Amino acid sequence: MRRAVHLAPGADLAGFRAAARRLVADGIPPEAVTWTQGDAPALFAEEDAAADAAPLALPRPVADLITGVVQHRDPERFALLYGLIWRVAAGERHLLEVASDPLVHRLSRMRKAVARDLHKMHAFLRFRRAGAAEGPRERFVAWFEPDHHILATAAPFFVERFPSFDWAILTPDGSAHWDGRALRFGPPGRREDAPASDAFEAGWCAYYASTFNPARTNPAAMRAEMPKKYWRNLPEAAAIPSLVRGASARVAGMIEREARAPRKRVPARALAAMAEQEPASLADLNALIRRSEPLVPGATQAVLGEGPPGAAIAFVGEQPGDQEDRQGRPFVGPAGQLLSRALAEAGLDRDRAYLTNAVKHFKFEERGKRRIHQKPSAGEVAHYRWWLDRELAFVAPRLVVALGATAVLALTGRSVPITRARGPAEFDGRPFQGFITVHPSYLLRLPDAAKDEAYGQFVEDLRRVRALAEEARG
Ligand code: URA
Repeated sequence: MRRAVHLAPGADLAGFRAAARRLVADGIPPEAVTWTQGDAPALFAEEDAAADAAPLALPRPVADLITGVVQHRDPERFALLYGLIWRVAAGERHLLEVASDPLVHRLSRMRKAVARDLHKMHAFLRFRRAGAAEGPRERFVAWFEPDHHILATAAPFFVERFPSFDWAILTPDGSAHWDGRALRFGPPGRREDAPASDAFEAGWCAYYASTFNPARTNPAAMRAEMPKKYWRNLPEAAAIPSLVRGASARVAGMIEREARAPRKRVPARALAAMAEQEPASLADLNALIRRSEPLVPGATQAVLGEGPPGAAIAFVGEQPGDQEDRQGRPFVGPAGQLLSRALAEAGLDRDRAYLTNAVKHFKFEERGKRRIHQKPSAGEVAHYRWWLDRELAFVAPRLVVALGATAVLALTGRSVPITRARGPAEFDGRPFQGFITVHPSYLLRLPDAAKDEAYGQFVEDLRRVRALAEEARG
């Protein structure tokens, strides 16, 4: 017998759970169910179903997957999820561990897309002042177009961040409203209902212009990786076209000044004070990293991540080396050159990837005139996780490649031998797919006889990374 289930619009988790419970209890297989959504009343009110059907005892990872995937915009999501529940209820309790199963694969990708969307909303939403303040509290409104039904999940983050003013987030699917006491959800909004600009805008643009590095400009990649719809909401994006136009002249000026100027030591500041400030953007975070104290006296500068925000792939290395410390850019020394060569051989464009390090300062020991690399301790790696976590949240890559054991430690909190962990990996609770491979400096240290083969394997890993990223783009 066929069953028709009608759910409320958007991410109707309660309705879906209730319906799935009843369907399983009645023994209705997935192929006999038709799922629809819309404003008509849902056929399975939660209370009715709860009264009729026993709760489903689903393994925790399955329940978590359902919570994520119901927010996806794909109209097939309920049918797919019910297919999963049906199989798990029939005894496939460890189904989610079978990553090669087509259903598991598709649902994992959907969950990742939702997590990515959530990160983008947290990073790219901007409030604008709406009219004059009434009473002591100011009022702000933001317009945002998420890809998926994530508003209810995303909004509590903004309550925590901006508890002291009244705000509304308007989206084409619904709105969220905070008045200092309660968070409420309402009907869809329109772009015209949010202010187009406010008095803060000039400040944002000036701030962005002051932190914009013309030497790292790659307009094509910026456009390819960060859809224009996000640019429209970012006040600082108004500054981008003129900054990009002037970039080459500014780079020439910087090179000339750099050649003349004595090398400056970055002023030391207490990291604890930095950690108390929650950065609102990658530029903001980078400004904090730049002002943070080095690990050892004599390091020239913090080396920031480099690449377009929104890059599909991020590579995480260990720490800057001697050349990186001098030039202020990641992966420009011998290991970086080897990485560039291998990326090109694997068909990956270095300029479209995001490159960064687990540790942002060069740690070394002076031996005569030479500065000898020192491995960062586990404590030092843990200290820099604060930066790395936020950096990756702002960049929001689909795939993160850990280059070597320090990167794995930074991303997972665990020490894992690379030989055992090499290949695709899940970094717990992260919204991106992971991949583990060796660090390019390991290849440089190998005896000549072993180098070619190890390099070939490294390029092979990067080819797999490329395939996974293409797959994740879906
Ligand atoms: N090794 C790294 O891990 N990062 C760099 O930037 C350079 C060398």
